[in-house]
Amino acid sequence: MTFSKRLFAAGYDLLNSGVEGRVVPYRKRTAGMARGDVLEIGGGTGANLPYYPQASNIVFIEPDRHMIRRLRRNIAKQKRDAIIVQQVGESLPFADASFDTVVTTLTLCMVRDSDAVIREARRVLKPDGAFLFYEHVLSPRSRGRWWQHKLNPMWKCFTTGCNLNRDLTASIQSAGFRSIDLEAFDLSVGLPVTIPNIVGAAYK
Ligand SMILES: C[S@@+](CC[C@H](N)C(=O)[O-])C[C@H]1O[C@@H](n2cnc3c(N)ncnc32)[C@H](O)[C@@H]1O
Repeated sequence: MTFSKRLFAAGYDLLNSGVEGRVVPYRKRTAGMARGDVLEIGGGTGANLPYYPQASNIVFIEPDRHMIRRLRRNIAKQKRDAIIVQQVGESLPFADASFDTVVTTLTLCMVRDSDAVIREARRVLKPDGAFLFYEHVLSPRSRGRWWQHKLNPMWKCFTTGCNLNRDLTASIQSAGFRSIDLEAFDLSVGLPVTIPNIVGAAYK
């Protein structure tokens, strides 16, 4: 597993490069809207770094040491100040109400327990704080769901843990946030394939 994790970390930016141009608007709507004390869960290689406002204080949670190496390098390259904590999002080492903003992008598909991570994101938010998310999700269409369930075992193996078929919309809607702005849309990854995505903000 360590070797495949290492390979995934090394190839992550390359794997993403085909769709990154289409993803940028959603990085701007999440990382780009972050304010104050910010926590990103699943920082990866730091793809959101260019979009965080300069004034924000960023803490990254990232469990994978291979990703952390790249994240550290990108933080230095972009001359940003950010703290990296090697930990999983299911159990955040922070007191209640510690952050103004919590961000996840393309991460809830990959964590072991997405409901627990969303619960933790809400717990560490200050009152009125925003959980900003951009994720791919279970299709609202039965044919799409059928393909997602079929392809998931192979995809999960290839990506060292990414799930195509998580109903993250339902998870966010049932997590107890005061209000939620959520947009669902299909991201084109090249004809004829699209992937159901959500982007939005959930307020504590
Ligand atoms: C697909 S990458 C997304 C990285 C980045 N957020 C982006 O938008 O490019 C998912 C990241 O979540 C991390 N991850 C996996 N399990 C996790 C967990 N339980 N808690 C927090 N992060 C986790 C992975 O190591 C990986 O870096």
